[in-house]
Amino acid sequence: MKHVFFTHDQIQERPNKRYAAPDPFQIHYHFRPARPANLVVTRDPVTRELNVSAGTLGPLTWHPYTMCLHINRSGSPHTYANLTIGGHCVIALPGRDIVKETWYTALQLPRGVNELEVAGLTECPSNLIDIPGISECPVNFECIVEFKQDYYSHAIVFCRVLGASIHEKVLSMSREEVVNWYPTYEVDDVCNEFGGSVERLGVMGDLLECPRFPQATKSCWSGKFDKWMEQLADEKYITVETKNIINGLLPKYYDLLEKAPESNEYQALKAFYTQLSKSIIALDWPTVEELSARWK
Ligand SMILES: Cc1cc2nc3c(=O)[nH]c(=O)nc-3n(C[C@H](O)[C@H](O)[C@H](O)COP(=O)(O)O)c2cc1C
Repeated sequence: MKHVFFTHDQIQERPNKRYAAPDPFQIHYHFRPARPANLVVTRDPVTRELNVSAGTLGPLTWHPYTMCLHINRSGSPHTYANLTIGGHCVIALPGRDIVKETWYTALQLPRGVNELEVAGLTECPSNLIDIPGISECPVNFECIVEFKQDYYSHAIVFCRVLGASIHEKVLSMSREEVVNWYPTYEVDDVCNEFGGSVERLGVMGDLLECPRFPQATKSCWSGKFDKWMEQLADEKYITVETKNIINGLLPKYYDLLEKAPESNEYQALKAFYTQLSKSIIALDWPTVEELSARWK
């Protein structure tokens, strides 16, 4: 498959000189994968007025549950000012039924104007913090801001989830119905007749199954390799002897990786583990046995 390379600066070009297209976002779009949309509710420390702003978020850690906002310092001045370390915010997940409202919260309204009211959205009380959530959003995370750092044009803001509320009806919906409703994703921009960028949101479509045991550990990708081999032996996909060979070679492999990665012995072991992994994923058990037997 032929790949076309773009330098960092070429990625940013709109329109792109290499592949000029009527839509100036034609190339740019490919390099900005869809990102989950959110509405962040903050309170102005001076006017005490609520501020709501559309944004996109990234997960950080699960235990504790933290996520990252990236706030444009000049484009989102109110959210930037309101998010302070130790302060609170609500991160709400909007669905496809409030795309317009989501977008209205992105308008650069004068400080002190509550976008929630302008967009026709309604507050719902939070349980742990004095900043409300948004009734129309199926999920509202009540958060504390733990980290804020200016980073190029943006501030990266790490928020820890204190608790979350969810529309009760979501709990009995099928996963397919849910992902077709929310979360929405900021997917692309198209150019309007004035040269302005018109954002578009999307939702997920199909849910695509990923491999399971025996092509992964019983706990899926997070399980360690040696445990996977044990599980394969427990379930009789491979013999105990084969499992012992595979796991028995691991300390030597890691030692050589550190001390003599150029050695023939390391290269041979690396080829073994590569072939072995490919054979396991292909469910080719005779080859797994045969490859391992060579290391008896
Ligand atoms: C779907 C969507 C996603 C957005 N994502 C971000 C974002 O991640 N960071 C950001 O600073 N602005 C983002 N914006 C733009 C802000 O919502 C916009 O700048 C807003 O006016 C900021 O308001 P504020 O000054 O009240 O904070 C997004 C807008 C939309 C419609």
